[in-house]
Amino acid sequence: MAEFTLDVRDLPRPAAYAEIDAHLDAVLDGIHDRIAVMATMAAVLHHGLGFLWTGFYQVTEPRGRLTVGPYQGTIGCLTIEFGRGVCGQAAATERTVVVPDVRDFPGHIVCDARSRSEIVVPVFDQRHALIAVLDIDADTARAFGDDDAAGLEMLVRRFARPVPRS
Ligand code: SME
Repeated sequence: MAEFTLDVRDLPRPAAYAEIDAHLDAVLDGIHDRIAVMATMAAVLHHGLGFLWTGFYQVTEPRGRLTVGPYQGTIGCLTIEFGRGVCGQAAATERTVVVPDVRDFPGHIVCDARSRSEIVVPVFDQRHALIAVLDIDADTARAFGDDDAAGLEMLVRRFARPVPRS
């Protein structure tokens, strides 16, 4: 198992996400538990990219609610209804949402006053059912763009892989 802490802050984003993906393949070899994968992804992304908050909100009952899952950073809002805030919009539309400046996003939910920009990516299982969203917050405006959307969408596709029977 890879033991070192990955730091990809100096790489162009496509290369950074490729490194993170390879690192996750090594660290998560043989691991299929969803929470273990989410927790490890949050840790690797958070320390690899160095943003403010990195983590998952899972789709929970009653259907139409997100509940905070594995994350790194300061305490996140515990629940978010579909349609509310950036996370709720990504969940309701099942599309990636990039917010260059949270002050320009009506309804942005403030969990940490330092947050200035944000990206939220939907996470699907192997049946293409929405199971979560992945949220990353930065303390600078315009921290995220198309390369981040593509890179994070590629990373969360590991939740859509078939789980081998044990
Ligand atoms: N800002 C998010 C809420 C989650 S936290 O930032 C961790 C939103 O508007 O959905």
